[in-house]
Amino acid sequence: MLGRGRILLIVGGGIAAYKSLELIRRLRDRDYSVRTILTRAGAEFVTKLSLSALSEERVYDDLFSLTDEQEMGHIRLSREADLIVVAPATADLMAKMAAGLADDLATTCLLATDKPVLIAPSMNVMMWNHAATRANHATLLERGIGFVGPASGDLACGEVGFGRLSEVPEIIAAIEAALGDKPLAGLKMLVTSGPTREPIDPIRYLSNRSSGRQGHAIAASLARAGAEVRLIAGPTEQPDPPGVAVTHVETAIQMLGACEAALPVDAAICVAAVADWRPAEVAEFKLKKRRDASPPALELVENPDILATLSRHAQRPRLVVGFAAETDHLLENGQAKRTAKGCDWILANPAASIGSAENTVDLIDASGVERWTAQSKEQIAQHLVQRIARFLTPKEGQLR
Ligand code: C5P
Repeated sequence: MLGRGRILLIVGGGIAAYKSLELIRRLRDRDYSVRTILTRAGAEFVTKLSLSALSEERVYDDLFSLTDEQEMGHIRLSREADLIVVAPATADLMAKMAAGLADDLATTCLLATDKPVLIAPSMNVMMWNHAATRANHATLLERGIGFVGPASGDLACGEVGFGRLSEVPEIIAAIEAALGDKPLAGLKMLVTSGPTREPIDPIRYLSNRSSGRQGHAIAASLARAGAEVRLIAGPTEQPDPPGVAVTHVETAIQMLGACEAALPVDAAICVAAVADWRPAEVAEFKLKKRRDASPPALELVENPDILATLSRHAQRPRLVVGFAAETDHLLENGQAKRTAKGCDWILANPAASIGSAENTVDLIDASGVERWTAQSKEQIAQHLVQRIARFLTPKEGQLR
């Protein structure tokens, strides 16, 4: 078998077809071989030349070409893949698949194959919501066809809603899952998530707005990629992610203790919004409000910095990642934080992302900055898992 698996990519028509180029690059980076079929509509958006240059394979597009049939018949083309991926899949392609039509090379291969098929739809929100597409979607799901997306957001047509092609890391994660691939198998990961609670008295505490969504999504994604994950979770509403070992803690000191107990690990991802300070003294009994007395003054002391401690630990993980939530000067503050804490990467995100479902992230490492534009926290998690897999298990001769 060539590399990690053979993918037959069908590129349908649609403005999102340009993302298939990035998809091929990333799949080649991950050591998959990619053969491409370009539909007639797809050829209006991307060229055969760019597809073949990136995939390092010839691109197929004509069902009735004698050379194609001599060199590689459609039956062989569809059977020699481990997985067929349709990205982007238009409403028309989905309809043809559901109806069993086979009037070009792409649809013929899809009908002739005995291999799993994964579809990444991309279309206008009205087309996605149309009763015909709903019915086709249900039919294809029933037949065991896998789907990734579509995502919700701004569409090329100017409307907003479901219909966007999923981001490339999400499609890759779905491909790896469909192939049963576990790029992080055998690796141990530590993730912190959620806020901490610093008690004032038996009733009251200091805390923050962290929901734990991002950290929990990262732990879940790492586990799906095959890693052995220990999640140290502050108090959150999030359920324990499947396949993840969870230690529940309240305070920063407990979180640090649980993190150190989890060492050694290959990577630590510190997502928790750890309280910087805790009350110097915790009252044994509830502090009482008294009419004749002024409000109590809280004296605070600094909490240990878990990220900095892990970065300088005798059992330092190979990769230490921190987050920086900032209200201003995101990049400058993120860069300064990376140096001050001694971690490898900082993911800088706007403070407004705390508690919300979406996030925009700048990944800052020693070589510069990479922007991941607004996407769901699950997508950010998948993106990060791809980056971690590339860092920890680099292909020989490939730059990290
Ligand atoms: O200093 P600041 O809180 O902005 O740093 C954020 C990063 O540091 C996050 O990755 C957070 O999990 C980590 N951190 C920590 N322990 C602390 C404070 C922050 O691990 N006491």
